Amino acid sequence: MNSLHVRKATSGDAAGIVKVLETVASERVYSAIDVVWSVGQEARYLDSISQREAFHVAIDDFQRIVGFQSLDLWSSLLPSMAHVGQVGTFLVPEWRRRGVGHQLWNVTELFARQQAYQKLAIQVRAKNTGAQMFYRGLGFTECGRLTRQVIIDGVEDDELLMEYFL
Ligand SMILES: CC(C)(COP(=O)(O)OP(=O)(O)OC[C@H]1O[C@@H](n2cnc3c(N)ncnc32)[C@H](O)[C@@H]1OP(=O)(O)O)[C@@H](O)C(=O)NCCC(=O)NCCS
Repeated sequence: MNSLHVRKATSGDAAGIVKVLETVASERVYSAIDVVWSVGQEARYLDSISQREAFHVAIDDFQRIVGFQSLDLWSSLLPSMAHVGQVGTFLVPEWRRRGVGHQLWNVTELFARQQAYQKLAIQVRAKNTGAQMFYRGLGFTECGRLTRQVIIDGVEDDELLMEYFL
């Protein structure tokens, strides 16, 4: 079967989300996340997110979580940055380049507009050109670079900053 649906995550989804993260982290090249947090930590995070933050999961026909997209406040402390959100997107390999990222984005972007965000930002590893293409396709533009920001297994990478004005 080839269809899936997107819904808001609950803390009961923590194990499935951590599994996706473990898959991506084990690939070593796509994310700055090299050591994944525990299911309990993820569940506490999901329970703690504010009304203005969102975490959406993509679910396949077998009720498995195959990916997710998060939208967090850039800063939970500074009202001066309440208009800025940060986004993250992660899919298991077999569901990549099949429109799931766009499907998640449609939901996240609508939520961001409803919550009066004015811009969204992301950090993407410089070597992750596929994700940069994806975000560029959504309208994000590159706006900065953190040099040698990530070292995984002794391999350095920069992080690109990209932003999108709603
Ligand atoms: C990056 C990611 C979130 C994109 O989601 P997706 O569902 O694969 O993307 P979609 O199918 O919605 O959109 C595909 C389009 O995005 C771009 N794109 C996505 N992945 C790409 C890749 N590896 N190489 C080149 N372009 C890519 C292309 O424009 C592509 O269109 P095309 O297939 O017609 O060429 C997903 O591939 C993923 O989870 N990758 C691994 C983890 C990761 O890199 N996360 C981002 C960390 S910042």
